[in-house]
Amino acid sequence: MTEHLQQSLVLIGPMGVGKTTIGRRLATALRCVFRDSDEAIETAAGRSVSDIFNDFGEAAFRDGERKIIARLLSEPPMVLALGGGAFMSAETRALIRQHATSIWLDADLDTLMKRVGRRDTRPLLQTDDPRAVMANLLAKRNPVYAEADIHIDAAGSSHEETVRTILAQLEPSHDR
Ligand code: S3P
Repeated sequence: MTEHLQQSLVLIGPMGVGKTTIGRRLATALRCVFRDSDEAIETAAGRSVSDIFNDFGEAAFRDGERKIIARLLSEPPMVLALGGGAFMSAETRALIRQHATSIWLDADLDTLMKRVGRRDTRPLLQTDDPRAVMANLLAKRNPVYAEADIHIDAAGSSHEETVRTILAQLEPSHDR
């Protein structure tokens, strides 16, 4: 089913940018498997990301996240959406560089705050000022996300349009 994908496509970028929805649609278009690192961690741990943060702390979550991603990258090529913080691990970045094509889905703060919504369940945004937290994360993470192979502006366009933009960018390097 995935013989036309030479290596995994890894979607990175901030919370709320649409990695999961876009990834799922991209996988459908490419007729390949889709996985999401948060979902894989939840399945492995038997609890939600919020519960993992609450019960074991962020460091334990990051540890599990790194291991799950390493395992997923060792599997046959797929579209893989990562949690927003996963690419901050130098070890994960090195693995991705070696085994996958990375795609940074980028959006501005206003767009992201609209997309994460008011009743967001993400543990890092459970604060009095989620906008300030997001702004801070973007300032720290955008320079690292910028190491990705492909940069896509995902603000101001529908997820469907973003999928088309990604496919157009992949055209020359992927024999589909
Ligand atoms: C996080 C993003 C979340 C999830 C966790 C931490 C982050 O994933 O992994 O809440 O550090 O940005 P999404 O980017 O899919 O929301």
